[in-house]
Amino acid sequence: MKYIKFILSIICAPIYIFIFKAFKVQSNKLSVHSLINSYIFSGGCINSAYDFFLRKHARFSKKSISKHVDDLDYEFISKQINKNGYFIIKNFISQDMVNQLNLDIAKMNGKYVSDNTVRSYSEKFDLSNPQGARFNYLAEDLLSSRVIQDIIFNQKIIEIAKVYLRAIPILDIINLWWSTPTKNPDKEAAQWWHFDMDRTNWLKFFVYFTDCDSNSGPHQFIEGSHKNFGIPWKLRKKGYVRLSDEDIRLNFNANKVKTFTANSGTLLIENTRGLHRGQHLKKNSRLLLQVEFTTNLFGGHFDKYSIKRSSMKNKFIKTLNENQFTYQNFEIK
Ligand SMILES: [Fe+2]
Repeated sequence: MKYIKFILSIICAPIYIFIFKAFKVQSNKLSVHSLINSYIFSGGCINSAYDFFLRKHARFSKKSISKHVDDLDYEFISKQINKNGYFIIKNFISQDMVNQLNLDIAKMNGKYVSDNTVRSYSEKFDLSNPQGARFNYLAEDLLSSRVIQDIIFNQKIIEIAKVYLRAIPILDIINLWWSTPTKNPDKEAAQWWHFDMDRTNWLKFFVYFTDCDSNSGPHQFIEGSHKNFGIPWKLRKKGYVRLSDEDIRLNFNANKVKTFTANSGTLLIENTRGLHRGQHLKKNSRLLLQVEFTTNLFGGHFDKYSIKRSSMKNKFIKTLNENQFTYQNFEIK
């Protein structure tokens, strides 16, 4: 029965995609399962084909290719992410922005996301007395911060996403969270190895807002595991589950495990179709922002975001209005 369901969900994926394309509706659970099972079965090839069909292709002429329009070489960054699965830019945001966000979050509410902390209500975070491995801030509070707005409307980030995805990108996830020390790695807080699979293609941007050494939960990634067949069948056949250090040790060379310690202000760009995790913390605490751009919204549930007009700079309102496809999940209140 399990195998029939597995095969059926792969066979039905084109039907779900047709319904999504034609009627702009989807069944999130069935759509996501069809993406996951297609990935497990094909090692990513089927997902890449679906992405080609679903994305809004960006046109690049030799002139429009955004090489060296500022201090970043977008084609180089894109090639590096294609090859390794990640790219790092140190000092991407200033220490003033880091300090400002650390002040802004004092007013914000959030919720714990941890194996042993189940609370439905939102609350303020007390760094001196954390109640779980991970505390997520609420998006509606986050978006009132000019620092967050500076990042989600940052033209360099949009350009990196566009050149890498070869598509007009859509901003679909914004998350900021604290991670704090725990005895063991927390599954709910994504501290075990896993791959993401909510969409056909996407790129994640992680901004470190605290210094992060080997004790304070550095992000880890298996280099090259984002590619088609980058995760071997032996691991894929386990399904969409969290994987252990032993699974990684038995299937990848140790030199492929990359650990990203970083100073605050660092930007880590990553294709999280590859295997990754945030290591669990032994000491200190880590504040990390995650912003995701995708090629299309087929797959998992996505949040609608609203931003208060009074909190926005005019240039951000202009950027949002001029890039309505990219910010289609956003409304100005
Ligand atoms: Fe993840």
